[in-house]
Amino acid sequence: MTPDLMEQGAKARVEHASKEAATQQSSGDRGASFGRVLKAGLPDFGTGVALYLDEITVSFDGFRALNKLSLMVDVGELRCIIGPNGAGKTTMMDVITGKTRPDSGTASFGQNIDLLRLRENEIAQIGIGRKFQKPTVYEQLSVFENLELALKADRRVRASLFSRLSGAQLDRIAETLQLIHLLPQAQTQAGLLSHGQKQWLEIGMLLMQDPMLLLLDEPVAGMTDEETERTAELFLSLEGKHSLVVVEHDMKFVDQLTQGRKKVTVLHEGSVLAEGLLSEVQANEKVVEVYLGR
Ligand SMILES: Nc1ncnc2c1ncn2[C@@H]1O[C@H](COP(=O)(O)OP(=O)(O)O)[C@@H](O)[C@H]1O
Ligand SMILES: [Mg+2]
Repeated sequence: MTPDLMEQGAKARVEHASKEAATQQSSGDRGASFGRVLKAGLPDFGTGVALYLDEITVSFDGFRALNKLSLMVDVGELRCIIGPNGAGKTTMMDVITGKTRPDSGTASFGQNIDLLRLRENEIAQIGIGRKFQKPTVYEQLSVFENLELALKADRRVRASLFSRLSGAQLDRIAETLQLIHLLPQAQTQAGLLSHGQKQWLEIGMLLMQDPMLLLLDEPVAGMTDEETERTAELFLSLEGKHSLVVVEHDMKFVDQLTQGRKKVTVLHEGSVLAEGLLSEVQANEKVVEVYLGR
């Protein structure tokens, strides 16, 4: 998708949210929360930047989990972040999603949205979706019902849990089922899926909310080789339509995602240690030392 189209999408979304907010003022926090998002304005992706972190520092009892971390991700870019355990990768995602507030630094979505001023739910509403390490699907419900719930949980969509799905909504669920390779399992109870399939379902649930930026923390941990390969294909098909930040240990997976031409970021002790092609960072002496030193 071109930045232009992205902007239009974001605009339509926020306009929709604005109407919702107007009709929901009486429901207390919901209205107030939309109000704050709207005050923040539309994300402006005109310069092609999706996410910009500048000198972010996070301390836990004096220990710096992030130490002046700076990172820029483009609109439509798929960026892999690697780094040893404890490097600060998950903490970085916590900062982007509003779960952790940094001591200093700035974080923006597009060129204008100050993420550090928004709450977690507000950040989700403006188009940042996060996939945690462990899948969290509704085990008792079918695959289809999980996606249906995710769609209806989107407050931009005017629907109650009991309302019938529109044709367009059914189409979206079907498209997503196909994308995440679970069309044959649509009526299967989610609890019966393999670990890898549960991970795909959760990614599908995220996609139902149409996030502009997707954050994926170790998405192929515990997957079989075949599932890992399919996940790489899935992410590659999302690239361009969404920006993706993928934290991963599995170098084969990172290689599949970067295809020898995309930039990889190496985190170490809360800062960027190296950035470049996977082959370049793997040959980087500092990087080798950090990995072997553990
Ligand atoms: N809530 C917390 N309180 C104290 N220390 C934390 C907390 N969260 C993370 N840390 C520490 O910060 C460092 C970075 O952790 P994390 O971001 O989880 O690393 P990674 O995801 O790269 O493995 C680790 O040393 C971890 O122990
Ligand atoms: Mg982690």
